[in-house]
Amino acid sequence: MRPQEIIAVKRDGGRLSDAYIEAFISGVTDGSWADYQTTALVMAMFTRGLDAGEQSAITRAMLYSGRVMDLSDIDAPKADKHSTGGVGDKTSLVIAPIAAACGVAVPMVSGRGLGHTGGTLDKLESIPGYNVRLSTARFKNVIRKCGFGLIGQTKEIAPADRKLYALRDATATVPYIPLIVASIMSKKLAEGLDALVLDVKTGSGAFIRKYQDSLELARELCSTGREFGVRTEALVTDMSQPLGKFVGNAHEVFECIQILRDEAEPSMRPTVELSLELTARMLTQCGIARSAAEARSMAGAALASGDALDRFARNIELQGGDPRVCDRPRMLLDPKLKPFVVEAKRSGYIASVDTFAVGRAVCDIGGGRVRAEDGIDHAVGFSSEIKIGDRIRAGEEIGLLYCRDLRQARSVSEKLRDAYKISDKETRRPKLIRASI
Ligand code: URA
Repeated sequence: MRPQEIIAVKRDGGRLSDAYIEAFISGVTDGSWADYQTTALVMAMFTRGLDAGEQSAITRAMLYSGRVMDLSDIDAPKADKHSTGGVGDKTSLVIAPIAAACGVAVPMVSGRGLGHTGGTLDKLESIPGYNVRLSTARFKNVIRKCGFGLIGQTKEIAPADRKLYALRDATATVPYIPLIVASIMSKKLAEGLDALVLDVKTGSGAFIRKYQDSLELARELCSTGREFGVRTEALVTDMSQPLGKFVGNAHEVFECIQILRDEAEPSMRPTVELSLELTARMLTQCGIARSAAEARSMAGAALASGDALDRFARNIELQGGDPRVCDRPRMLLDPKLKPFVVEAKRSGYIASVDTFAVGRAVCDIGGGRVRAEDGIDHAVGFSSEIKIGDRIRAGEEIGLLYCRDLRQARSVSEKLRDAYKISDKETRRPKLIRASI
């Protein structure tokens, strides 16, 4: 089947048969489709739409573009968490070691930065030496030894998503529910899991911003998980402002290590709370805890005892990184980047945050990609301790921008300042967890 024939069907608003979808995904995987043909079809899917049957066929084809991992020789329940993507959304690096310390095996296959959001793989690569490209055999060995492993899509595991993820990132075709479902579930179902917990973001920094649409995404993800026999639960969580204190790869890892060291600052509390809640859901879903209360207390104890930190240090070492970052997290921060203060224009209450603009600002100073093959600057970032509902005075600090170039800092800080809307009226603080599906 010629790619042109398949692209034309969707271009003209037609329905793609299972055979067409399988031909597309196998062409993406074996390289016989050129990138321009792939992105033409993805854009046609985005604009013309995919129905439920097409969504299911593309998820299946992407899953079976590779293998489903066999972790039967690891004697522990297998579970994972995946987020639909947000700004400052760093919980994976806290959740995986806590869950592992509680007895779960976590085979986490993650992605790189997508659109305005950061990606777990890019964050991990800010740890000197950390290797996210492990063979399946080595990945399994890491999980066996420390309870969790973190890699990207490989030639064996979700290879179609490896290609499509990077192309969607560079062609503005991320925010579409069927493509998000296929991308996430093809990776997660390839992990050979017993249970999966999804963190579906909603609000100005999410790909799917409207609450009702986020609920729909959560339902679609859960029903796909169940269709493939994996116990799946989703929380719809707030992304109307950045999560926690930092945005930017190395800074986010710094925040996670502070949390694992039980040294979280007050502005990092939302990251702690959400990480503990998502981990607790994993523990109940895979039967390690009998109740939500027991699960929360197990997760809290693994964090407070330092077990989770030890697991993280062990994981870093096993994946080729420098575990001393766990003793001295400041090692991650580049002292050459002098913070540039972003000041409030006027006094009042923080009414809303254009979180997309915050994510874009960090991408613009080098923290994200423009083209799929671009490198990134792991050290740049933004920190803010100001949250929606807080009172601020004109000239006070909204946050700090860590950037290499003073001229760029001035223009980007202007955008950041505009992203924080200030009003005279007192504003309600958003709830962190909006719904559970
Ligand atoms: N996370 C993914 O893995 N894929 C998407 O498309 C969006 C978020």
